[in-house]
Amino acid sequence: MLPPEPKSSPLVQTLRWSFRPLPFMQQCRERYGDSFSVRFLSFERPMVMISDPVAIKALYTERSHGLPPGREVVLTPVVGPHSVLVIEGADHLAHRKLMLPAFHGEQMRSYEPIVSEIVDAEIDSWPLGEEFAIHPHMQAMTLEVILRVVFGVAEGPRLEQLRVVLTRLLEETASPFTQLIGLASRRFGGRGPWAKFEAQLKAVDELLYAEIAEHRSRDDLEERSDILSLLMQARFEDGGAMSDEDLRDQLMTLLLAGHETTATALAWTFDLLLRHPREMARLRESLEADEDDYLRATISESLRLRPVVPLAGRRLAKDLEADGLTLPAGTDVTPAIWLAHTRADVYPDPFAFRPERFLEEAPDTYAWIPFGGGIRRCLGAAFAEFEMRIVLREVLTRCELRKANPRPEKIGRRNITLSPKHGTPVVVDDRRPARELAAA
Ligand code: HEM
Repeated sequence: MLPPEPKSSPLVQTLRWSFRPLPFMQQCRERYGDSFSVRFLSFERPMVMISDPVAIKALYTERSHGLPPGREVVLTPVVGPHSVLVIEGADHLAHRKLMLPAFHGEQMRSYEPIVSEIVDAEIDSWPLGEEFAIHPHMQAMTLEVILRVVFGVAEGPRLEQLRVVLTRLLEETASPFTQLIGLASRRFGGRGPWAKFEAQLKAVDELLYAEIAEHRSRDDLEERSDILSLLMQARFEDGGAMSDEDLRDQLMTLLLAGHETTATALAWTFDLLLRHPREMARLRESLEADEDDYLRATISESLRLRPVVPLAGRRLAKDLEADGLTLPAGTDVTPAIWLAHTRADVYPDPFAFRPERFLEEAPDTYAWIPFGGGIRRCLGAAFAEFEMRIVLREVLTRCELRKANPRPEKIGRRNITLSPKHGTPVVVDDRRPARELAAA
């Protein structure tokens, strides 16, 4: 017996989930409580959504559970079969072990100058006194960070080409409509959107393999700190290294997992901060005092209220028993991240934007899960927060900006993310030069 489910058809549930995910989840919570089942058209069995931290802990601490349904089918064409996002078991653990040191705190600090340089260049390109959507600018910035810090591509024609082909590829796979049409046209072989997608992917692959070959031919690899160089030098426990195909798949994974997500989290943070002048003033004050506690708390609160990735589930390899819930092996189960983040018993006044709630206490591991959990927890979580801190600090110390429209942003969907529908339109009224700031 699975938890109760809405009476509407799978088509209606899929549409409600696709276009109004938060009201859909909220209604299910009001009607059925902490756990309920939903039926989505593309999934062969119901999916159980949970939001109680005790049940989430039970789910994430069992290492044998499998990938959530759909992840492999949807992602493998882009990220490839070696990607850490789609492999399982011992192979998955071996890859995580090899990749983790590249995302370590110490390593991160060495990226600070280049990330700041990218952010400053982006800020300098913004129009003054004119309305523009900040989300695409966050995307440009996080793409540049991936290209330079993760892929280690130097200034030059390949960087330019990668920027163009990747932006095109990411843009065209972003909308749920395009994804559906693309998947449908796959069966028609050589024509249609699927063929176009494959041609774009081929262009990307050629550039990535050229970059990998160039990295391999370098004699200064050991001195380099970009993530591709680190992955190339890292060894599995049996002493083996990643093949070119393996490296290519991890690069696409880091791009896909790390670019849109971080950009979207930043756009939401601006949407929230610019509508909350008291919290904004407190953040600016703390930045002026060169403190980052309030900045960190702001990021945690933004990821709580506007989790970018709504679900991070598993297919049960064993029965799950927790807090009165018993689910048999084989069930698809996912935390409904936004529901877990808006529980009044964990977060008083759960819908209010209050960074202060994270000043005293760090977020609870299983009640704050924007990065998922357990052995599949986001590998780039520290990297994402580090990047967000630099962007917010630079933008808020250099720019006077305001929202172009005072209303909260509506929630739209891009790829797997929940993102601000209108891209968070803002106006920059004033901007200090980066150099002046450095000299101050
Ligand atoms: C705010 C930004 C980000 C959010 C909200 C986010 C969220 C997530 C979530 C929910 C998962 C799935 C976890 C699970 O299944 O339990 C995940 C996995 C992953 N993320 Fe992130 N992510 C972000 C940024 C990044 C960045 C910057 C990178 C790397 C550059 C990255 C790399 C990965 C990888 C490699 C995985 C797969 C881990 C595995 O399966 O073992 N992510 N992320």
